[in-house]
Amino acid sequence: MLKIKGNYFILETEHVSMVVRAVEERTEYLYFGEKFADYSGLELMHAEGNAPWNAPLSLFSQWGKTDFREPSFLVRFADGSCACDFRLKSAKIVKRDFADGLPRPYGEEKCLRLEFTDAPSKLKLTLTYTPYADSDAFCVAASLFNGGKKSVVLENFASAQLEVWGRDFDFTTFDGTWACERTKHKRALAYGKFENASYTGSSSAFHNPFVMLSREGEAYGVNLVYSGNHREIAETDDSGRTRLIAGINPFCFNWELGAGETFYAPEAVLVYGKTEEDVSVRMHRFVNRHIVRGKWSKKERPILVNNWEGTYFDFNEKKILDIAKKGAEVGAELFVLDDGWFGKRDSDTCSLGDWFDYTEKTGGLDKLADKIRALGLSFGIWVEPEMISEDSELYRKHPDYAMKVPRREPTRMRNQLMINLADPQVQGFVFRAVSKVITQCRAAYVKWDYNRHMTDCFDKNTRGGEYYHRYILGLYSVLQKLTERFPNVLFESCASGGARFDLGMLCYMPQTWTSDNTDARDRITIQSGTAYAYPQSTMGAHVSASPNHQTGNSNPLETRFRVACGGLLGYESDLTKCSGEELSAIKNQIAFYKKHRAVIQYGQYYRLGDSFGGDWSGFISVAEGGAKAVSVVAVPVKRTGASNYRARFKGLDAKTVYRVSLREPSGIMKEICVAGGDLLNKGGVNLDGIFSETNPREVSYPLYTRMFVFEKFVKDKAEKKAK
Ligand code: DGJ
Repeated sequence: MLKIKGNYFILETEHVSMVVRAVEERTEYLYFGEKFADYSGLELMHAEGNAPWNAPLSLFSQWGKTDFREPSFLVRFADGSCACDFRLKSAKIVKRDFADGLPRPYGEEKCLRLEFTDAPSKLKLTLTYTPYADSDAFCVAASLFNGGKKSVVLENFASAQLEVWGRDFDFTTFDGTWACERTKHKRALAYGKFENASYTGSSSAFHNPFVMLSREGEAYGVNLVYSGNHREIAETDDSGRTRLIAGINPFCFNWELGAGETFYAPEAVLVYGKTEEDVSVRMHRFVNRHIVRGKWSKKERPILVNNWEGTYFDFNEKKILDIAKKGAEVGAELFVLDDGWFGKRDSDTCSLGDWFDYTEKTGGLDKLADKIRALGLSFGIWVEPEMISEDSELYRKHPDYAMKVPRREPTRMRNQLMINLADPQVQGFVFRAVSKVITQCRAAYVKWDYNRHMTDCFDKNTRGGEYYHRYILGLYSVLQKLTERFPNVLFESCASGGARFDLGMLCYMPQTWTSDNTDARDRITIQSGTAYAYPQSTMGAHVSASPNHQTGNSNPLETRFRVACGGLLGYESDLTKCSGEELSAIKNQIAFYKKHRAVIQYGQYYRLGDSFGGDWSGFISVAEGGAKAVSVVAVPVKRTGASNYRARFKGLDAKTVYRVSLREPSGIMKEICVAGGDLLNKGGVNLDGIFSETNPREVSYPLYTRMFVFEKFVKDKAEKKAK
């Protein structure tokens, strides 16, 4: 709901109100929190100051007046000055309408549009606020129009600013590196600023754009619909306020805005909740309902078999077909041919860019795909179109396609260079090359990889400070065209694992490979962190070989499967090497997953325990309405003599009575009791016996798990009669 009431702008979702007030051409956040039943008395919240120490909570901040904190934007005028004074000129409820090449949330038509002008320069700042009623999320889109006669330079232009009263907040970020992405880090804000940012050209494995501010009784989550360099600043001030700014990282950014031009910032998402859990639940709803789009939105995702860890580059047609056959036998639905099928790609030193069939290996890609389909599997393919190998036909023909700075030796990562996607000609090449691959093998699925960071940013037709953003706009333009041309293809984004897990990519690609690290213990932490902002339906989670290729640790097949049930199931190993016993266990796992797939992928996800800050961890996924749930609980350390762990669940319907079943290591489901949802949430289940399932002598660095299924208990007639 959106309402203008005098000089108050009221935005409402199912549980949250945001009230913005206009005071003499200025605006303030009057309130952002739990929904008001009635809006009388808003004047009681007014803060009447305008000095730095008592100014109200502002929607944006500019340099040149009396605000000496981090500004949300900075404009450099032709004469070198940067002072501005933007004043509110209009406030209207209008139709959402953007034509700027950026990915945007969908599903709400109306927004509040606030327009501010800086009279001397004729710059117009537009902020639009869109409430997403069913997800309790508020999106902010900012743009700047140059109505003057001369160009100006944007040295910084953030997407959103949120200000709240109080300085006693914790700031939570999700950080890591390759193989340990999105690990939760929470620290108390201290005096000054805290920055979370990426400098890699992508949203990065180092610092995800999703952040939270929280304290007892309130939490705010902020994310960006963007895949490039981002920055989130949390700043406390002398006057008891906290400011949070999120947007494109101003590092190496400066954008020339010519007369008559508009710059659009990526959209930001603001979510309020009483707890971090509320924020997470609301983010999930928002992503499932307003970010992931197209045919695969809200649709159950296929169980896949991927050959990467099974073969790496060493495969031929027979090997692939043998793995696929085993996959079909155990009930998988999709086979994904990973890296190594093109050019002369026998190692990571060559052929990126040569997106044509390596027939000696594949026996003909189209024929191989047909043979795989004949097994009853759909066919998917791996590509890494943003990269180029110097040892490739493409590079020999078009060295100009590579991202390089003239007269400098480029930096190689994984032996590869990047392609210059800021150039429309190169965008055209990527679109055509990927279209051809999809058409040739009639792919139902594409894994779009990205295995390095950006370093040699340069394009002769692009201003240096615009490069990073222009690259991302180029990428989005290619993805837009490809997803329009192939609306049925399921795209999965990947970046050396999860180095580009963000809402921008999810607008085009409904799922993301969460991490190259598939070690069950590490995955609990990675998936738990990722799932703060991103639902299970977006997280690729595979069962791989043991010992694990990344960590060397081993865990039983059943443990690996249970942890992979935190996301979109796949198998990533050489299935031909599995024993008959292992294959029948996998068959059982896949049948179990299919049976419970809807709730596993789309149920409401809650974190259990403490993701290994302490004793135990896990998750529960509860179907809408609460009739069914699946939960996995994990204990990382066996403490001799301490077996009295008890798991308490979340989200089960308090009034529903559940039949509780435990999945045994053999895959057999054992009904253990009938219990009320309220009791299970508050009291929980004793984890007696959790250590007996995994023999620590047979595995290294074991993880102890239990898997539960809760189903609404309906007494059948026979049972009633017997009583
Ligand atoms: C990195 C990905 O994360 C892996 O899954 C695999 O596709 C390799 N790249 C292939 O080079």
